[in-house]
Amino acid sequence: MAVRKLVEHVFAVGAIDWDRKLFDELIPLPDGTSYNSYLIIGKEKTALIDTVEPEKKEEFLNNLKAANPQKIDYIISSHAEQDHSGCIPDVLKLYPNAKVVTNAKCKSFLKEFLLLKDDVFIEINDGDTLDLGGKTLKFIFTPWVHWPETMSTYLVEDKILFSCDFFGSHRAASHLFVENSHRVIVDAKRYYAEIMMPFRVQIRKNIEKLGEYDIKYIAPSHGPVYPDPKIIIDAYKGWISDEVNKKVLIPYVSMHGSTKKIVEYLTDKFIENNVEVIPINLTVADVGQIAMELVDSAGVIFATPYVLAGAHPAVVSTAYLTNALRPKVKVASIVASYGWGGMGTKQIQGMLSNLKAEFVEPLLIKGFPKEEDFKKLDEFSKTITNKIIQGGAV
Ligand code: FEO
Repeated sequence: MAVRKLVEHVFAVGAIDWDRKLFDELIPLPDGTSYNSYLIIGKEKTALIDTVEPEKKEEFLNNLKAANPQKIDYIISSHAEQDHSGCIPDVLKLYPNAKVVTNAKCKSFLKEFLLLKDDVFIEINDGDTLDLGGKTLKFIFTPWVHWPETMSTYLVEDKILFSCDFFGSHRAASHLFVENSHRVIVDAKRYYAEIMMPFRVQIRKNIEKLGEYDIKYIAPSHGPVYPDPKIIIDAYKGWISDEVNKKVLIPYVSMHGSTKKIVEYLTDKFIENNVEVIPINLTVADVGQIAMELVDSAGVIFATPYVLAGAHPAVVSTAYLTNALRPKVKVASIVASYGWGGMGTKQIQGMLSNLKAEFVEPLLIKGFPKEEDFKKLDEFSKTITNKIIQGGAV
């Protein structure tokens, strides 16, 4: 149990999840996470920004009791996903006069997910304000960070932006504020990669919108509070830009060593060509690492053996995920190793329709690569390298 003071009359009352290792049953959390909830005590009214994952209800409610607000008038719901909204019904039980303040879309989600009734809501519009008495909340709609209903709240007097998932990072930590600015940017990049990357265009608009606010602190709903918001805003600007690095990612699986030989050979070629190369063995890979590398890679090459007359299921799964994440890669291709036949390259290519990348003709190699295959791999790596450079990678 820990209540931590952010500024005068503003407290962090959320929960730290030291043990959680998987989010959405998909995303690895190597360092745990936190679900941040903030209590803002005005002269007349008290507001709570978001709640926590229901599994951490006890810790959260203990923190809330320790903070000892005389009342809670408003529960601001920034985002309907249950890691922030899941304990709203519990807060309403403790403070039955509280109202849930949110936008129309979030309200409709909360009614579906938490079975909340219409009369507990106060519906607000973009730019509306709520006066707590010496503490003014301004609601800024910031859709698609991470769902269509997500919004931020700006505490005018203290210049704090409560951004929910936006600018968040997954790490369980006892400190409230960023202590290691390099580490938090790596954590935030992983987080951006895993859930924000498909929404680059909308994020750009959101960041432009925030440009008109003087922000002293960014207080997200996962990870530490930024006392220097510029570091995370600048990092986001890089990730959402069209710029890519001179880097190629090679997610691969090898069953009997042929694909591995192909990948090792290609890796050496890219090193010779001064292109950063990241081969990732999918049998031991972390989905978050793949997503992170896709944030700024100029190219991606899927390398697969054929099994059951198609691409290896682990490569299929990664191609599906890559397509869903919509990275800004400029070049994509496939290398495949086969024994007797199959349609694996077409299968993978067909799964990448969201990518705006130039597609280089896949390379199909029978059995263990031979001299003529290495020559083809030389050409293949040259073609990819040239396209990466022509694509403006830096
Ligand atoms: Fe942290 Fe989209 O929920």
